[in-house]
Amino acid sequence: MTQLEGLVTIITGAASGLGEATARRFVRDGATVIMSDIQQKKGEAISSEIGAEFLAADVTEEKQIADLVDQALARHGRLDCMINNAGALGVVGGIATISSEDWNKTVSLLLGSVFYGMKHAARAMINQGDGCILSTTSVAGLVAMGPHAYTAAKHGVVGLTKSVASELARYGVRVNAVAPGTVPTDMTGQIYGGQEGVRETSKARNPLGRSVEAADIAGGFAYLAGPDGKNITGQILTIDAGQSACPAPNRYY
Ligand SMILES: NC(=O)c1ccc[n+]([C@@H]2O[C@H](COP(=O)([O-])OP(=O)(O)OC[C@H]3O[C@@H](n4cnc5c(N)ncnc54)[C@H](O)[C@@H]3O)[C@@H](O)[C@H]2O)c1
Repeated sequence: MTQLEGLVTIITGAASGLGEATARRFVRDGATVIMSDIQQKKGEAISSEIGAEFLAADVTEEKQIADLVDQALARHGRLDCMINNAGALGVVGGIATISSEDWNKTVSLLLGSVFYGMKHAARAMINQGDGCILSTTSVAGLVAMGPHAYTAAKHGVVGLTKSVASELARYGVRVNAVAPGTVPTDMTGQIYGGQEGVRETSKARNPLGRSVEAADIAGGFAYLAGPDGKNITGQILTIDAGQSACPAPNRYY
């Protein structure tokens, strides 16, 4: 038996970065993985390479997330784990310059999508009497570290995780999130001039002086979804090499 043997798992934003690494890790650990993304070709290519399934869905459209969950149930009869991971940086700029339209789009992508994922996964998991809902927040969900709308939405994911964990515990459904530091992916590569630029920035920002990799984040999801996570709910697992807890060297030692 492997750690995640038979665990029917949906991962959104799985065609790239953290979602892709998590899909690879879950398949390796024995899970039945349904990868989802708006990048259909890329998602299908990865899923057939690793032995996962792929279903296209736009996480900003509630009906598409409802259908995604229904298709997983039709194929496998249950949903054990839902990972709400899809996202992008969204609108940047000073608070006095951000348009309402751009604000709403970003919050819809980063927080509305997590609401849809939790809502439709909960529908299946309450009936089952167990399940695990995981989401990707960020160190920007804990401290002021990103663009305004991104930071606000990721803080929202933290709040929603705790709130929904408190409701669903009575049904045996656990709800947690992972808060990654700065990890080289397509999203961050665009900000820091490629993936090596991300690694250098990340090392300079955290006290361990190491780059945090997508596989580290995948390991966090696997821990929370697997047997060692069975008594964990309402928690945010920060994987950032100490970046958010120890932002500057302390002069007392
Ligand atoms: N990379 C980091 O340093 C970092 C740190 C903290 C949090 N995060 C979060 O991790 C998550 C994944 O980001 P990543 O770094 O792997 O970036 P990425 O760009 O490599 O992957 C994001 C994926 O989400 C998909 N996506 C975007 N909009 C979508 C939509 N509307 N519907 C469905 N899929 C959509 C993209 O197609 C892409 O495959 C995001 O929520 C991001 O905010 C990343």
